[in-house]
Amino acid sequence: SNTQKTVDQRLLSICELLETHIDYYNWVGFYFRNGNKEELLLGPYVGEPTDHTVIPFGKGICGQVAISNENFVVPDVTTQDNYIACSITVKAEIVVPIFVNGKNIGQIDIDSNMPDPFTEADERFLEFVCTQVATLV
Ligand code: SME
Repeated sequence: SNTQKTVDQRLLSICELLETHIDYYNWVGFYFRNGNKEELLLGPYVGEPTDHTVIPFGKGICGQVAISNENFVVPDVTTQDNYIACSITVKAEIVVPIFVNGKNIGQIDIDSNMPDPFTEADERFLEFVCTQVATLV
């Protein structure tokens, strides 16, 4: 039998690595555009299960990034009125888009139980992760 890893297995490994080694990364997952529909579908993730497996463009932090094509760093989720709460333990969130041939095809989404943990170093690091993910999806 072949032992080739599937794309989803590789994406799950990335989630596991990030959640395990960075203490303030407490939920790590990928959302991807559903074909040509204006909605995101939850991909591989680690952390508490979420009901939000489909997110319309424009809705929540994730849905806003699907439209803006820009990183979204939220130091304090209670300040956001367009926010989808997945867990009451979450204090902060970062979403970084994934580009393939210049098109925003999805994103990495990270929740933290720590207030205001994300720096520009996280943004640069996650942008790098997303360029690598773009080569395997
Ligand atoms: N908080 C996100 C929804 C996804 S959960 O964090 C897993 C948002 O507002 O888009």
